[in-house]
Amino acid sequence: MLAANSQRSQQKRVFVLGGTGFVGRSVCAMLLRQGWQVTVPTRARLQSERPPELSGVTLLDLDVHEEEALTQALAGHLAVINLVAILHGTQALFSQVHVQLVEKLARACLAVGVRQVVQVSAIGASASQPLSAPSMYLRSKGQGEAVLLHAADSSNPPAFELTILRPSVIFGAQDKFLNVFASLQKTLPAVPLAGAAARFQPVWVEDVANAACHSLTRCGSALGSSAPLILEACGPDIFTLRELVQIAGRLSGARGGRGRPVFGLPNWLAWLQASLMELLPGEPVMSRDNLDSMRCDNVAQGVLPGLAFLSIRAAALQPIAASYLGRS
Ligand SMILES: NC(=O)c1ccc[n+]([C@@H]2O[C@H](COP(=O)([O-])OP(=O)(O)OC[C@H]3O[C@@H](n4cnc5c(N)ncnc54)[C@H](OP(=O)(O)O)[C@@H]3O)[C@@H](O)[C@H]2O)c1
Repeated sequence: MLAANSQRSQQKRVFVLGGTGFVGRSVCAMLLRQGWQVTVPTRARLQSERPPELSGVTLLDLDVHEEEALTQALAGHLAVINLVAILHGTQALFSQVHVQLVEKLARACLAVGVRQVVQVSAIGASASQPLSAPSMYLRSKGQGEAVLLHAADSSNPPAFELTILRPSVIFGAQDKFLNVFASLQKTLPAVPLAGAAARFQPVWVEDVANAACHSLTRCGSALGSSAPLILEACGPDIFTLRELVQIAGRLSGARGGRGRPVFGLPNWLAWLQASLMELLPGEPVMSRDNLDSMRCDNVAQGVLPGLAFLSIRAAALQPIAASYLGRS
């Protein structure tokens, strides 16, 4: 009954969990430009300080972990994009946010007849062998993917069309990545860096947003069947973390445009640094779980399709990063 009522009113309505975040704001702005009606649940802190990208969305004060409330709020939406994630926390918190919430979301989608689901995961996550990943973040991301694949597959034809995006690290004017490395070099004489040799394939936030929006229209398109699709969302170039810190330093003009010297830390010292950072108030710049995530390369494996599959030509990092780091 809920599903029948829901389908009558669901034309071009999309529900974006995590729509208030860094990537979510770009996704929402793009969806609005494409004529979608966008609903964004939030933990009730933005009603009075709404970012400009969200000016046309319906913001809902909603605890998305409350399954009944989530299901009711979802009714009438054709599509869902899930961008909710945490980077730091305990095993229980990763499980609550990346697995249990996705289980509730999957049940809610089935109950109200959502037709399209886009799950933003992360490169290094594996739906088939989630526990083989090196960190709690990546293991729980893989478990969340598996939940949705199972739910989509629970009927024939699939209950909803599922696209899973696995981005490498994401850059953009409001990132907490290159901006953090740039601001550290404004104050520190040198950067002691954990995971300096870890490899990344940074992708522009607008390309990830484009992929998420594009995924909503793949139904019945030239992109083919409604079978679940997993995509690696990566940029055109691979960098080590050391190179990325150096680029951030140069582009932000630190030390007259030369950037600060970067010292790679040995593993034991990196672990100690991360442990101390976790004790500081607020979000740590680096946690032990982040170090664990960097034990696998954060780059496309090339086995799965990439952004080109959605006809997206991924942007290079340096010209875009120069446009915002130069101002910072
Ligand atoms: N940024 C990157 O470099 C990167 C790289 C690879 C993959 N990803 C993936 O891309 C997605 C978006 O990342 P992002 O950088 O945009 O994240 P973000 O800026 O931290 O935003 C996360 C969003 O999730 C919501 N949220 C956070 N904790 C929550 C909780 N405990 N319960 C309910 N909602 C919660 C927040 O909404 P409210 O505060 O409004 O409730 C926020 O809008 C994530 O799935 C992430 O894993 C990001």
